[in-house]
Formats: sequence, structure tokens, C-alpha cells
Amino acid sequence: MKIQKVTAVYYSATGNTKQVTESIARRIGETLGVPVAADDFTLPQNRKEERHYGKEELVVFGTPVYAGRVPNKMLPEVQRLFHADGALAIPVVTFGNRNFDNGLIELRGELEKNGFHTVAGAGVAASHVFSDQIAPGRPDEADWKAIESFAVSAAERINKLEEIPAPVTVRGDDPVGPYYTPLGLDGKPAVFLKAKPLTRAELCDGCGICARVCPMGSIDAANPASVTGICIKCQACVKECPRQAKYFDDPAFLSHVAMLEKNYTRRAEPEFFLS
Ligand SMILES: Cc1cc2nc3c(=O)[nH]c(=O)nc-3n(C[C@H](O)[C@H](O)[C@H](O)COP(=O)(O)O)c2cc1C
Repeated sequence: MKIQKVTAVYYSATGNTKQVTESIARRIGETLGVPVAADDFTLPQNRKEERHYGKEELVVFGTPVYAGRVPNKMLPEVQRLFHADGALAIPVVTFGNRNFDNGLIELRGELEKNGFHTVAGAGVAASHVFSDQIAPGRPDEADWKAIESFAVSAAERINKLEEIPAPVTVRGDDPVGPYYTPLGLDGKPAVFLKAKPLTRAELCDGCGICARVCPMGSIDAANPASVTGICIKCQACVKECPRQAKYFDDPAFLSHVAMLEKNYTRRAEPEFFLS
């Protein structure tokens, strides 16, 4: 099939998914000899207009996995904003070294429902945003090699396609299973849905970066200590604050992080799907 343009589309609160999705798109673009664009829908102002992709386009579509699925507050945005008339797509998820569970199969299904034809897919292990101890430095050199070779194989597959392909087969439950229940150190469900970031007043100089990077637009720029809307625990404010003024102290959240640090520091490998 003749592809004229590749676009990396992603939600990426702390940058892992952006890096992986853009790398795959870039490598495919180079292999096919076509231009590559990026479309970042992380922030609310970038989620206003619907996008439409035509038959000669390929979209590399990335989201992180939250609780084993596509982030639940982003799912309606994926459904509402991205439409295709037979464009090809490659669903890509990043996950923090625990598991991508049903995230990739869910994303594949949503893209197919929106009129895309999925031709390949990837679940890429990355550093966990909740802890510097879980998969630090991932993706690493070995991961990038594997990612690169996946991108080249995907491009070659696309070049050889003569008819509309069946949806790519990926790991996960069909129909999509429930969200993963975060557990605490005691092995019991850790309920931290209502947790919000706190602010160390002595460190915060009110610069407002946290408000600008919040995907939910939930932090008051005039008073960054005030979280007026929903918090999805993405950690963008914590990671981007230049003065380390943001933190979480919710005991259930901290217990979940401790459980992950205890049980999920072994190496999870990326998984690639091509047929
Ligand atoms: C709310 C939340 C839930 C998460 N759930 C999972 C999970 O179920 N499994 C996993 O391996 N990683 C999980 N992670 C880790 C992220 O998937 C991982 O760090 C990802 O690469 C972050 O992407 P980003 O940098 O593009 O925001 C979760 C992260 C957040 C913020």
C-alpha cells in the first residue's frame, strides 16, 4: 500500500510514550521515504479539534498503560478525536515494567472502531512514573535496538500490503478485561482515586509550570497549590516542577508504589506484534 505520510499521535504526560512513538514513526518514515509529523494530544488545548486521516496515511498511535488499560480519562478523547477513512495504524503502549495487560488490545480495538486498519503493535517497557527504582533508564540500548528493528519490519510489511489487512493480533483479552486493581504492600486493593498532589509551600515560587503541564487542566495557575479538578496521578506536575515542590502523601498510593518497588523491579521485555 502506498503511504504518503506518517504521523506520531500520542498522549504522554511524562514523555516516555512521546519518545517511543516518535522514534517508531521516524524510523518508518525514513524506511518508506515519506514525511513524518507529530500530534501530541496530552494537553486540553490540543484536544479540541477532531482529526481525520485518509487511506494514504499511517498513524503510529501511542498511549501509556494506566491500570492495565488505555488511561480511562483519555479513552473518550481517543474515541472522539481520531477518525480514519481506511488509514493504517500502529497502536503502541508504554508500561512501567509491571505489565501492559489489556492496554494494547484495547487501543487496537478503538483504532479499528474509528476506521483505522491496524498493521502492527507494540507494548514497550519504560521507566515507571511512580518510582525512580522501577525500570530506570528504560527504554535502554537493547530496547531501542528492538524498537528500531520492529519499525523497519513494520515498514516492510506495509510496503508489501496489497489489500486491507486483518486487525493485528496482539496480546490481551478479547473482549477487553477489567482494569488492573492496584494493590498495596499488604496485598489488598490500594484505593487512591481521590489522591491529589500536595505542594511544599516553602519550595513553590508560583511559576505555574505544573498548571501548564497538567493533562486535565486541574491545577490553578494563579495558585498552584490548588487542585480544582480531577487528578489522574500521571505525575507530570511532580516530574516537571523545577523546584521539586509537588508530591503525593496519600498512604494508599505510597503503599502501592512500595508494592511495585518490591515486586516489579525484574526486567519486563518489550513485545512486538506484526501479523
Ligand atoms: C495512573 C497510572 C497507572 C499506571 N499503571 C500501570 C500499569 O498498570 N502497568 C504498568 O506496567 N505501568 C503502569 N504505569 C506506568 C506507566 O505506564 C509508564 O510509566 C509510562 O511509560 C508513562 O508514560 P508517559 O511518560 O508517556 O506518561 C502507570 C502510570 C500511571 C500514572
